[in-house]
Order: sequence, then structure tokens, then C-alpha cells
Amino acid sequence: MIEQREHWGSKAGFILAAAGSAIGLGNIWKFPYIAGENGGAAFIFIYLICIALIGLPVLIAEILLGRSTQRNPVGAFKKLSGKPFWVTVGSMGVLAGFIILSFYTVIAGWSIGYIIEALRGSFSQFSDPSIASTYFDERVSDVNWIVGYHTLFSILTMGVVYAGVNKGIEKGSKIMMPVLFFLLVILVIRGVTLPGAEKGLTFLWSPDWSKISGQSVLVALGHAFFTISLGMGAMMTYGSYLSKKDHIPSAAIQIVFLDTLIALLAGIAIFTAVFAMGQDPASGPGLIFVTLPVVFAKMPGGVVWAISFFLLLTLAALTSAISLLEVVVAYFVDERKWKRHKAVMVFGLITFIIGVPSALSFNIMSDVHFFGKTWFDNADYLASNILLPGGGLFISIFVGWVWGFDKVLIELKEGSESLFVKYPLVIKGWKIFLKYLSPVMILIVFLHSVGLLESAMLQFRTNWVNISLTLTAIYLLLKGSK
Ligand code: PHE
Repeated sequence: MIEQREHWGSKAGFILAAAGSAIGLGNIWKFPYIAGENGGAAFIFIYLICIALIGLPVLIAEILLGRSTQRNPVGAFKKLSGKPFWVTVGSMGVLAGFIILSFYTVIAGWSIGYIIEALRGSFSQFSDPSIASTYFDERVSDVNWIVGYHTLFSILTMGVVYAGVNKGIEKGSKIMMPVLFFLLVILVIRGVTLPGAEKGLTFLWSPDWSKISGQSVLVALGHAFFTISLGMGAMMTYGSYLSKKDHIPSAAIQIVFLDTLIALLAGIAIFTAVFAMGQDPASGPGLIFVTLPVVFAKMPGGVVWAISFFLLLTLAALTSAISLLEVVVAYFVDERKWKRHKAVMVFGLITFIIGVPSALSFNIMSDVHFFGKTWFDNADYLASNILLPGGGLFISIFVGWVWGFDKVLIELKEGSESLFVKYPLVIKGWKIFLKYLSPVMILIVFLHSVGLLESAMLQFRTNWVNISLTLTAIYLLLKGSK
């Protein structure tokens, strides 16, 4: 017997689960350090523009694809087009789910590991960053430590998805998201009341435009995709458990708002503490695992703050990891008629196994390179620089050009009629952003990240005929795939 497809119990349940997917390591680990490296306020401003002008329109498109078809990414494209090209786009999403999850659980595992380290009082000896940095290197080079926490986090992720959409993902998000928010607000209050916190706030709010380059705009756009979980069908899959009565644009705005709010609050909590304790804001990926423990060590009651912080990070990562596994599981449940429990066990285990070489990339496999990079760096590169922007590009092209915009509008109108009546301009704006602005901007990021933009520019200068031929080929390809 085919299992009945589950639906969210309430709109709030969907919003919390989708915000849970969006809010993750991207917001708390990555956003603060890339903002720190790219000069703070000016970068944040550009990131906010990318989120509003590109992230939001593509998010609406993705949720709509899921809700209209009530399918996983492969099933959705199969139902609407059936052309092998588009089904492949959907499959790339499922593949991205596997790949991102496999290395995401490794970093999330460090977060659980650091809760335990904090409990053991390890941070008290961190009088300066070099000690913290050596300590971090020792932890990640210990195979048992890193694989052990990778295992633990993978089991937690599988446990939630195993329980199902309502009893697992929705219920889990309803508990975890408020706890996460509460912990973050407390950490923000702690941060801004530290003596010297204003230096951190100045860093966040006073733009230094000289630090902005083409590269930082691209980093901002790439991160906008990662942080809203766009381009690989996670939001499509969550959208597929929505009913027709829900207002998609309003849900999408709330998701983007919550994601941005949490990233900014995380930035405030982290930079006020970092500046108050005289640490370097531009210390890169180690910012929260190396710099922050030093900050905690110097604070009164540091152990409690450290535990709260890494618990917050673990919860945020868990609500994202479950959305990654759910994409893979939904595909096997919908398309291959597997039972959810079997799909979770089998693919949870497979992603765990693919993740082991990622964990080993920090120790015994650190010298084993494929295409000049470690396994971990390859997985991250393939997913973040190729599969996500590629997926985002094709999703906007599909909804903007291939699906048929009249049909798109009929689907979107379900549940949001009032928006069409009261603000027709908003709908027009969405159409323009989705059809023109998003594909062009994403294409620029995509070409840049695979290093083709520079060579294309060079060619453009010397031989514009090649460019016209390429554009004609893209046009014909799209025309053929309609
Ligand atoms: N949005 C998540 C984060 O910010 C990562 C993610 C990407 C989750 C893609 C699902 C899909 O950490």
C-alpha cells in the first residue's frame, strides 16, 4: 500500500520548519566570519540586497514548484515537464542533498563536541588564541573524536526524519526554533552589555565601502543562496507538504525575515564579544571554534555562555540537516515507493559513510587530494559553487520561462488572492526579478565561481562572435527543452 502523503499541521509549523532549514551553520558559523573578512557593514548591506532581490523571488518559485506538484524535486520536474533535461535538474538537487549533508554533519559534530569540551572545562586554559587554535587542531586531528561526533549528529538527524513530517520535522522545529531564538537573545544581551561592546557594533553598522570588491558581491550572493537553502529542492520538498490554502509569498517573506534576523543577531552576539575581548574579527572559519572559546574563557560565567552558544549552533544545524535528508527521503518515498523508515535508514547510513572521508580530511586523509583538494573541500566546492547556483539558475529559468507564466500565476494565486488584488505591482515585480534579474545575476556568480567569467570576459573583448554563438546555443537549448 502506498503511504498517504503527509502535510504540515499548521502554517506556523511550515514556517518554523522552513526557517529551521534556512537557519543553520550558514547563519551562525559562516555569515559572521565572511562578514568579518569582507569588512562588516558594507558587506552586510550588499548581502541584504541579494537576499531581497534574488533570494526571495527564487524562494517563492521553489516553494510554489513543491506545492503545485506535491512532489520531491525529481517528481516535480517530471510532472511539469517530463523532459530529461529538467528531470536531471531535479536529480542534481537530490545529489546536492546527499553531498551537503555528508559534510554538514561533520562540522555540526564539532559543535556537539564543543558542548562536551565546554562542560569538561577545557576552555578555561585558553588564555590566548594560539592555545585555542592548537587545541582545535588537536581535536579535529583525532579520528575518534571527529568521526564519533559525526556519527552522533548523523544519528540525531536520522532520528528526527524517521519520525516523519509531522511528528519529527514539524514537532522538532516547533521545539528547537524557540529554544534557539531564546538562547541567541540571551547571548546578544550578554554581548552588548560587555564593556567595549560598542566597537563591535560600530564594526557591524558603519560601512567601509573601500573593502567592497566584485569578489565580495559574489560571496554575498553565493551565501544568500546557501543560507536560504535555495537551489537544491529543500524548500521545494517542504513546500510539497503545504496545502493550497496557504499564502506562499507571505510565508516566504517570514522565512527570509527570520533567517536574516538570526544571522544579524548572531553577528551582534559574536562581534560585540570578539571586540570587547580584543580579538580579531577577520579570523576566518575558525572564528567560532577558536576565537569565541577564548572570549568565553575571559568572561565571567564563561562555561555557561559557551555551552549555550554551542547548543544553539547544534540545534540550528540539526533543523537544517533534517531538511537535507528529507529531500533524499522524499525522492525515494515518492518516486521509488519506498517506506519512509527504510529510506531514512538506508540513505542516512549512505550519507554518513560518504561523510567519513570528509571527517578524515582533517587528519589522516589531509594529504589525499582529488583535483587538488581534500575530499571535504571537494564536497563543499561541488555543492556550494556548482550544484546550488546551477540549481537556482535552472529553477528561476523553469518557473520564469518554461512552465508557462499564466499557469504559474494561477498556482500562486491559490491562497494569496488578496495580494493580486491589492498589490498587483508586487506580482509584476516578482515576474521581472524571476525572469531577468535572478538568472543573469546567478549566471554571473556561477561562471565566476567555476572560473569561467574571467575567460569569457577576455573572449568578449577579443571575439564577441563567440559570445553571440554561446547565447544563441543557450537560447536553442532552452527552446528545445520547453
Ligand atoms: N541553509 C542552511 C544553512 O544556512 C544550509 C542548507 C543549504 C540547508 C541547502 C539545506 C539546503 O546552514
